Amino acid sequence: MDFTASRIMAKGEIVLGCLAPHPPHVVYAENPDQNEAFAEGGWETLRWGYHRLARKLKSIEYDSIVVFTPHWQTYIGTHFLGLPQFKSKSVDPVFPNLFRFNYDITVDVELAEEMCKVASDAGIISMMMRNPDFRIDYGTITSCHMLNPDWDKPVVTISSNRNAHYYSPEVMNEQAGALGEACARAISESGKKVVLVSSHSLSHRHFVTEAPLPEDMSREHIYNHSQYVWDMKLVDLMRRGKMREVIDIMPEFTEQTIAETEAGGLTWMMAAMGHPDYPAEIYGYQSVIGTGNLVAAWDPRESTRELVL
Ligand SMILES: [Fe+2]
Repeated sequence: MDFTASRIMAKGEIVLGCLAPHPPHVVYAENPDQNEAFAEGGWETLRWGYHRLARKLKSIEYDSIVVFTPHWQTYIGTHFLGLPQFKSKSVDPVFPNLFRFNYDITVDVELAEEMCKVASDAGIISMMMRNPDFRIDYGTITSCHMLNPDWDKPVVTISSNRNAHYYSPEVMNEQAGALGEACARAISESGKKVVLVSSHSLSHRHFVTEAPLPEDMSREHIYNHSQYVWDMKLVDLMRRGKMREVIDIMPEFTEQTIAETEAGGLTWMMAAMGHPDYPAEIYGYQSVIGTGNLVAAWDPRESTRELVL
């Protein structure tokens, strides 16, 4: 039997979808070697949830991680990372005191090119990003580090085209959904097993002053109650497998909570996964500077899907 041929002919698949918030605070609190700042801890509910999901990922066979990030914003089309390696220091522009991370990222360029081509063929303005000095955004780094601190899988980052800024959240929803469907087709054709990551918090109203000690948990709570109620509404729908409904109310949720869903990440991931009607795995929810952060995952395989929390 020709194993090469069978490998090429095998259909690729999305093996897991992860909602992975990226407050730099969680990397800061982990004290990895790559980050220059030092913390006494903090945000354990979120970090322990991430650790649990990272352990599940270790048990899954997959080739690459594809991340959609709100912190690589593009205004002409969607861009895909297009060089095999990016190595530099990422400094969070708002929290340089917390996040100065030395990264060394391997990219699955083949998969990136495939997604770029299929999206382009579908009429979505798409291009490869091949500037060797390009600085990887802290959203990609934080989500990937928390999900896979060993950094032993290649990554593709997809930029967020800001349709919500030019047009409206409704247009964003349509465009991000079309991109998700194109990426799913590309993954299928690639023959690879892929983990999707939507990198963002839920509600995103936040405090504008920082505690003298950022990890002082006596200062941490949701910004206001209405944000909490919105977040819990979404969590409830996710638990009940109502992802079509979540995406339908996404424009209103985004406007009411000024959420990072305005970039289209969750819409993209849910469209790629066919709007799951099975329960999401909930790993943890916690406020970071007042924003609502949920770690969750969608496992298409019923045999490995878990009731986590
Ligand atoms: Fe963010």
